[in-house]
Amino acid sequence: MSRASFNTSSSSSDNTAESDADTCTEQTRRALLMNALATTACLACSTQVHAGEDAPGSDERPQKGDLLVFSEGDQEGKPVTAAALSAGGPPVHAWPKDPKTSVVRSASRLNEILIIRLDPTELDEQTKARAVDGILAYSAICSHAGCPVTAWVKSDVGDKEVLKCMCHNSEYDPRAGAQVVFGPAPRRLAALPLALADGSLSVAGNFIGKVGGAQPG
Ligand code: FES
Repeated sequence: MSRASFNTSSSSSDNTAESDADTCTEQTRRALLMNALATTACLACSTQVHAGEDAPGSDERPQKGDLLVFSEGDQEGKPVTAAALSAGGPPVHAWPKDPKTSVVRSASRLNEILIIRLDPTELDEQTKARAVDGILAYSAICSHAGCPVTAWVKSDVGDKEVLKCMCHNSEYDPRAGAQVVFGPAPRRLAALPLALADGSLSVAGNFIGKVGGAQPG
């Protein structure tokens, strides 16, 4: 009897121990599952952060050897070729692109470039020396308050077309190194030296002159 009682007692104790062990196993399994979910969530967060980051080099200024690619329109992302430029304008908008990494340097708006093809006989001596087949490149950012220079229109002070910023009507003459011919802009647009090989344009050196606006808009 007492053995039976003991046995009974012993069996009850075993059941309790098994129950405790089951509970413990279940808690451990849950803890592991929660950890796994938390780790997965963290990895997903991390992936999202990386996906939202700009590619390395995309905000660096144009480098010698960079290709030039259209920044807008049907040909966006494609190389700018001499053949794609209409003689006498209008300009096309472009970004520099690292040929080694294929990174387009579009993370800074200060990298946007205007490329225009003009009659070489219309260029002043200094501008002609920098042009390749009459093709010139300038910063697309107005030196007044940093708006984009978007228009190619007849000048308010002459009979030729000029690069114009519509924010406060500053005008730049691309035949004369993009000097200011009208409006409040304090200085010419920065010029970007170009090279032409096999019909494609590339960057031949750093910007000449300061890029960006002199004052906030
Ligand atoms: S920002 Fe271009 S004229 Fe003022």
